[in-house]
Amino acid sequence: MAHMKLGLFIRPTGHHIASWRHPNAHDDANVNFDRFIEMAQTAERGFFDMLFSADTHTAWTTTDSALNRQHYSAWLEPYTLLAALTPHTRHIGLVCTKSTSFDAPYTVARQFATLDLISGGRSGVNIVTTGNGRSALNYSQAEHKPKPERYDIADEFVDVLIGLWDSWEADAFIRDKDTSTFFSWDKMHMLNHSGKHFQVEGPLNVPRSPQGRPIIIQAGGSDAGRELAAKSADVIFGASQNMEMAQEFYRDVKSRLSKYGRQPDDLKILPGLSVTVAETKEEAEKRFNELQDLIHPDHGLAFLSRRVGHDFTKMDPDLLVPKLEAVDDVGTRSGQMIELARKNRWTLRQLYQHFAAARGHMVLVGTPDMVADIMQEWFSNQACDGFNIIPSLFPDEFDAFVDLVVPELQARDIYRKAYEGNTLRELLGLRIPTHRQTKNI
Ligand SMILES: Cc1cc2nc3c(=O)[nH]c(=O)nc-3n(C[C@H](O)[C@H](O)[C@H](O)COP(=O)(O)O)c2cc1C
Repeated sequence: MAHMKLGLFIRPTGHHIASWRHPNAHDDANVNFDRFIEMAQTAERGFFDMLFSADTHTAWTTTDSALNRQHYSAWLEPYTLLAALTPHTRHIGLVCTKSTSFDAPYTVARQFATLDLISGGRSGVNIVTTGNGRSALNYSQAEHKPKPERYDIADEFVDVLIGLWDSWEADAFIRDKDTSTFFSWDKMHMLNHSGKHFQVEGPLNVPRSPQGRPIIIQAGGSDAGRELAAKSADVIFGASQNMEMAQEFYRDVKSRLSKYGRQPDDLKILPGLSVTVAETKEEAEKRFNELQDLIHPDHGLAFLSRRVGHDFTKMDPDLLVPKLEAVDDVGTRSGQMIELARKNRWTLRQLYQHFAAARGHMVLVGTPDMVADIMQEWFSNQACDGFNIIPSLFPDEFDAFVDLVVPELQARDIYRKAYEGNTLRELLGLRIPTHRQTKNI
């Protein structure tokens, strides 16, 4: 029986917007490296495939009025964090976000090729076009480029990235002391890329990765995002509110692969999942509600404003969500949130509470059996290849997942009982990609 894949989405005190106010949260977690070591080691105890950190290029992660209520506007830079976590972990994949709007492909290629070499083939990069437009102001740009242009850049960026990672063949470095030949010329490949957005000569000044290439992840759910994933990514993160949405996403994304000469299994689909689990349903609900009660209304309204793309900050949280247009530029979830609120006749408070734990990813609150039932149902009905676990609160809710849900998944034989591979690519069950310059030989 195939096993599901699990990723851990890290964030200092958790993904619930009020997590840092919880009595058990380590409120210094945004700067305390030891907390991240604990998260990574707990994930390895649960045999996770990878840990992932998102990233943005601005401290303005919510609407101005509630910025000082947010715990992750200032914390550790994720790539440096991953590099530092490497010697504290042995098996788990190390993944973080890089932006095609603000980072240079040569730099990103070097960084992840290096992380791959020092971690023994465990690196991966989540390619995003960056949703938060204010980042542009930190990168000498007056405004964020429109979304179609951002995806056009992203497409070329990924092409350059892959080309650079194919700069060297695996056996290029012969290190022959007798003849004073460190590498073979014919195993080194120039890129000479001259495109619309990038001009990159190459080769990359880092050798080939132990897993062929670092893993590429994509996290945009729009048509352009799905297409980019189908063309080049190894994993796509999704955000689905229920199994039907996840199945539609799964079917659509997998069906796009064949036109790029790829098999459906070459791209793993991992929707986000937030779990609050306890021995009894009542206990799990009590724990979940404790977090909900900690949301300051100003923070809730600011969070909602940024996610939906309309300003609710001056509004009464107990008013019904008004009729609004979706704002495509903030992402595919704007329309989904408005639609859900209108359908259920929710107030603004109900809407922000609904999204506060996991920003539109699936939320489960229940016993290990109940949680495993749903995970198994999604996994065996082509809704996913696994999940990206989004704990609402560190360390409590992630510890509970590893201690209670992981054994249940193992007992059902849908999850590994030991690490079966060394590289992230092996863990994910992905083939080593063909080297571009040698594929016709
Ligand atoms: C699990 C997950 C992680 C994401 N991480 C980031 C991130 O680190 N930085 C970012 O700017 N956007 C991130 N996003 C947002 C998307 O990559 C994308 O920018 C956004 O959804 C808008 O694009 P879309 O309209 O194609 O969905 C993430 C999305 C998901 C589902």
